[in-house]
Amino acid sequence: MAIHVSSHPLVAHKLALLRDKATTPKQFRELVRELSWLLGYEAMADLETRQVTVETPLEEMAAAALEPRVGLIPVLRAGLGMVDAMLELMPTAQVWHIGLYRDERTLKPVEYYNKLPDAATVQVCLILDPMLATGGSSAATVDILKAWGAARIKQVSLIAAPEGIATLSAAHPDVEIHVAAVDRELNDRGYIVPGLGDAGDRQFGTFAGPSSEPGHDSDETAEVVRRLQRNLSPDR
Ligand code: PRP
Ligand code: URA
Repeated sequence: MAIHVSSHPLVAHKLALLRDKATTPKQFRELVRELSWLLGYEAMADLETRQVTVETPLEEMAAAALEPRVGLIPVLRAGLGMVDAMLELMPTAQVWHIGLYRDERTLKPVEYYNKLPDAATVQVCLILDPMLATGGSSAATVDILKAWGAARIKQVSLIAAPEGIATLSAAHPDVEIHVAAVDRELNDRGYIVPGLGDAGDRQFGTFAGPSSEPGHDSDETAEVVRRLQRNLSPDR
């Protein structure tokens, strides 16, 4: 398993602001963008380059150009906020949206949007999703990308739970995971704690009142989380 947790002080500082419940949706979107820029920079550190020739005003020189064709795969909705920063880093990247939402009771991902063409058009895929909670959405996205023919896949998230990392790396050990932080655990409604709440709602300001607060009490949901936690550590 390859998990990279950023140790950059700027990432830690911005993540603390992002978590704060007093952070407004406007500030939240700005922070998601800034964190995506920093994590994207780290996640792309091992991409190959090819030699090109550049003419400076003084002389010709050998320089480097990014070699692989890169695809950005934002998982709707929350992954949308990570796209612009990544496109600033790599203006020629292709963007392929995948629509998934997590069923609140079963915590299983439900696919609702996928317009991938028949065969893969990129060599490296970066899945963009701020939260890696149970890992269900991420593992399903990797399944979709592998069926498409993607050979090299990286997951870029802001916060991960240990349960999600375990699920994703068991299903897809070849996928590199880049995050700003790994939090303590999932609560019995499948939310990352301490976390930041619902990344989609906080970005887009879609708070509809108490009934849509994180999760609904459900024995079934809590049992799904307990199962994930037993897999993580048989002694829990
Ligand atoms: C959130 C998040 C991830 C998923 C993570 O999306 O953006 O896609 O949950 O959870 P998992 O690891 O347990 O699958 P959500 O389903 O809330 O949809 P949204 O982005 O449309 O709000
Ligand atoms: N999705 C979120 O937005 N937050 C969580 O804590 C878990 C899933």
